[in-house]
Amino acid sequence: MENFVFQNATRIVFGRGTEESVGRETAAMARSVLLHYGGKSSTASGLLDRVRARLKEAGVAFEELGGVVPNPRLSLVREGIGLVRKHKLAGILAVGGGSVIDSAKAIGIGVPYAGDVWDFYTRNAKVKEMLPVGVVLTIPAAGSESSNGSVITNEEGRYKKDAGAECMRPRFAILDPLLTVTLPAYQTACGAADIMAHVMERYFTRVKAVDFTDRLCEAVLRTIVRNVPIALARPDDYDARAEIMWAGTVAHNDLLSTGRIGDWATHMIEHEVSGIYDVAHGAGLAVLFPAWMTHVMHHDTGRFAQFAARVFDAEHDYAAPERTAQEGVRRLRAFWKGIGLPGTLSEMGVGADRLDEMARKATESGPRGNFVKLGQADVRAILELAR
Ligand code: NZQ
Ligand code: ZN
Repeated sequence: MENFVFQNATRIVFGRGTEESVGRETAAMARSVLLHYGGKSSTASGLLDRVRARLKEAGVAFEELGGVVPNPRLSLVREGIGLVRKHKLAGILAVGGGSVIDSAKAIGIGVPYAGDVWDFYTRNAKVKEMLPVGVVLTIPAAGSESSNGSVITNEEGRYKKDAGAECMRPRFAILDPLLTVTLPAYQTACGAADIMAHVMERYFTRVKAVDFTDRLCEAVLRTIVRNVPIALARPDDYDARAEIMWAGTVAHNDLLSTGRIGDWATHMIEHEVSGIYDVAHGAGLAVLFPAWMTHVMHHDTGRFAQFAARVFDAEHDYAAPERTAQEGVRRLRAFWKGIGLPGTLSEMGVGADRLDEMARKATESGPRGNFVKLGQADVRAILELAR
């Protein structure tokens, strides 16, 4: 096991009806905020009106900026930075999913910075501070509600890049599973794939003697495998929604990184796909992860066989672990297909014509991944496998 420091500063307010605490939680963070949200869902469900009312009750002044799209755009971030400066707002309240939260974080790091916020995403500047960000989460998926990262798409050149720093963890996150019952089946499934991918990026490590966190990872994965089909069959099943929501946060709050070195190549490759083709991040991962596994599993077949046996109850064939490992990939694919996710890039409308470009962009700052270092040719091979 590696040495580690673990601290996650986000205050989690979890459970049925916790949405109502948004006024109190926000007032404790800032007296004036930018209320930041996405497209239609939070208006249609009435959530935004309820949040406005709670903020007024709590005496929190606010300005609004909606319109965040999945794979959130840099241009809206810049608009948000301008609004916060103009009205001298003291914080940001994100109501939505990973896209809204990431956009809020980008605004939060951009406001106190004299240069262009994109500098943080190109690594030309280091994040030192962020205006406080609070969250009302509406989709369990990205884990941004307590993660230290933000992923933004620059429309110019369609670059999708991340920035990260400890100060980028939200101050608080309200996780009310009742808010997720309106999720379309496809978004529930995309969220499930992203949650599983966050765990798998950490699970496939070369660090030895990580039994405790292996078991924690397996618990999160099994929880998703068990509860997502229930939520799809009965969208308003509170218990299933609650299990998925808490698992989604724990998958990416870095508890499962403790003592381990994660991989993250698949996420980096996926960001190239969703950066260009604007597909849902979780769908991209569902297509790419099995391809990555197939490409690298011979470097530590035993770990992949363990995954198959412990997460998907595959029979562990110790005489032929590669057979067990492959069975794990087969079962993972079958699970994702069963919940309605695509199995190939072409099913998502991604043709062969830009694979070279994606492989080049993914590796332009050097090889990707830690389980195995992947160069441009490896990434190209993985994209080809996923085609
Ligand atoms: O815009 P609206 O109308 O609200 O619809 C959204 C959106 O279309 C809808 N939705 C959300 N909550 C809903 C709902 N529809 C009905 N009922 C609800 N309760 O769902 C759609 C997807 O929302 P989005 O926020 O894009 O999803 P997600 O949470 O998966 O976020 C994806 C983004 O997060 C990034 C991804 O790359 C992607 O850009 N990630 C961020 C990470 C981080 N900051 O730590 C890590 C992740 O690996 C990921 O890269
Ligand atoms: Zn992800």
